Amino acid sequence: MAMDSRKLIDRVIEQIEHLPTLPHVVGNLLAMTESPSVDAMKLSKALDQSLAAKVLKVANSAFYGKRKVNTISQGIVIIGFDAVKEIILTTSLFHTFHDARDIQALQPLWQHSLECAMIAKRLAWIYRYEILDEAYFSGLIHDIGKLVIQQYFPEPHEQIGKLVEEGVDSLDAERQILSISHAEIGGKMVQRWNFPAALVDAVNHHHDQDWKLNPRLGRILYYANLFVLGSVGFTQMLAAMTNAGMAFPGNWDSIDLQGVEKILYQEIEKARSMFELSGT
Ligand SMILES: [Fe+2]
Ligand SMILES: [Fe+2]
Repeated sequence: MAMDSRKLIDRVIEQIEHLPTLPHVVGNLLAMTESPSVDAMKLSKALDQSLAAKVLKVANSAFYGKRKVNTISQGIVIIGFDAVKEIILTTSLFHTFHDARDIQALQPLWQHSLECAMIAKRLAWIYRYEILDEAYFSGLIHDIGKLVIQQYFPEPHEQIGKLVEEGVDSLDAERQILSISHAEIGGKMVQRWNFPAALVDAVNHHHDQDWKLNPRLGRILYYANLFVLGSVGFTQMLAAMTNAGMAFPGNWDSIDLQGVEKILYQEIEKARSMFELSGT
């Protein structure tokens, strides 16, 4: 363990205190349940200019046909409430860290996070986990601790990288150098942003499966992460989730698994294009 580990932890915590806060819109959005009264007009009024521009950009992208969309409420109708919410969550998070030291270096991490968000949401859909937005957001945010290390602790980040090159497991390397892992730093960030305790717990334990509050969300995030990392294939992932106690509320035989697998890979493709569209 590093000699000044206590000081380093204090620095990490202190740095977290000084890190940017997420815009209120994210919390409000996650708190907002599906409501028939939230129509396109109301949602469009809640968007600021840059978010509205992004919605229009996506609505006019290749995904949604060739019809030119000019108004924001039209755009919301075309791409749907869910996609609008995803755009808000994703761009708000990206923009929160726009003054980070090295934006370019963050790209692979954002890309991975967005892929994980898309897959977590699909797993939530498969397993009928009620709060799709929460699953999506957990994927988006799960490695935020890596961002904190990478951007705000350049020297320890380099030391960790060297240890990993020497063959040390990356979480062990983080603990060795910083006395805290990116998962635990992430948990602290999510807590600081006042997100639900179950989300904090899922982020905190996204590498060790030691969830105490909401194992369903925990499993969704854990396996979505492994899937996008390529560590498990589709059928292997579903089998592992079942073995881990994830109850499936339907009948597997009635599901077109090949079709679902295809959708999952399409989601990863979509995440790549969305990432380019987000202009980050
Ligand atoms: Fe991670
Ligand atoms: Fe990850």
